[in-house]
Amino acid sequence: MFPVSRPRRLRTTQDIRDLVAETAIRPEKLIMPVFVDEGAKKAVPIKSMPGIHRYPLSELENHLLSLQSSGVRSILLFGIPVNKDETGSSAYDENGIVQKAINISKEKTGLITIADLCMCEYTSHGHCGILRGNYVDNDATLDSYGKIAKTYADAGVDLIAPSGMMDGQVGRIRKTLDDAGYSRIPIMAYSAKYASSLYGPFREAAESTPSFGDRRSYQMDPRNSREAMREIDLDVKEGADIIMVKPALFYLDVIRGARRKYSLPLAAYSVSGEYTMIRNAVDAGYLSANAIEEAIGSIFRAGADMVITYFAKYLAEKL
Ligand code: PBG
Ligand code: ZN
Repeated sequence: MFPVSRPRRLRTTQDIRDLVAETAIRPEKLIMPVFVDEGAKKAVPIKSMPGIHRYPLSELENHLLSLQSSGVRSILLFGIPVNKDETGSSAYDENGIVQKAINISKEKTGLITIADLCMCEYTSHGHCGILRGNYVDNDATLDSYGKIAKTYADAGVDLIAPSGMMDGQVGRIRKTLDDAGYSRIPIMAYSAKYASSLYGPFREAAESTPSFGDRRSYQMDPRNSREAMREIDLDVKEGADIIMVKPALFYLDVIRGARRKYSLPLAAYSVSGEYTMIRNAVDAGYLSANAIEEAIGSIFRAGADMVITYFAKYLAEKL
């Protein structure tokens, strides 16, 4: 007998396929990471990430305008400072690299300017906070995160994205912002951030590899998913406006779980290692370029409302 439903009827033409498509990749849902390098004289290519560079402040405006003209609407800023010390003090320098980059972005472009808030790029040891012995001291680190948040707000940032995975970081930053008169600035919380092997290329780009040990005493164990819901719960209670799962592709189950359980906007960070795997396989001719849309599309299908991806410019141009 013939089946009553014949799914192929809705696959006959591109127009019909588009009509019934359940999800779409839209440029306004993509966030492009941008690396700003205080010591660089000109754009420095990142070896493991073809097409991605670190930019000196002098070239930042041009780069941002080219992102904007390709259709990108949001950026996520990372800074690489010239001076690193034990306490990462250049992270809360009001004339620091990210603070200046925020200024340029807000004055010269119409981009939504999000700034990553962490200390690993600023500490001489490369950990995400203040050390006590070999352990990252949670509460001493929160004091510094508060100071960084205030300088970002003073510089005119649109959203702040704390990525250090200290307990209580969202609450502390929220309170610091509110006390300083910045209650309107939202927090995009890296809520469920795993201790992943997929950050390798980023650490080359941001010069943030820990000089000893690893990040497993603060980032999450990849074996856990219930724990991700507990991390998100805390961030919601502490006042997060947007929650995030990171990485994305190896953690689609976590994205789906968060989508089902929470009503807040959900971001997913498709990290440097995801870009590296796909970009290099496409460049080598081993995968068709369709892999890019299929991969980023899978993250939206899993339930993300927005995706941070190094493919943002490529996709915005294409769509
Ligand atoms: C810093 C930070 C990292 C990433 C974003 N913010 C690296 C890390 O935690 O080691 C990774 C982003 C990427 O790999 O694209 N805390
Ligand atoms: Zn960090």
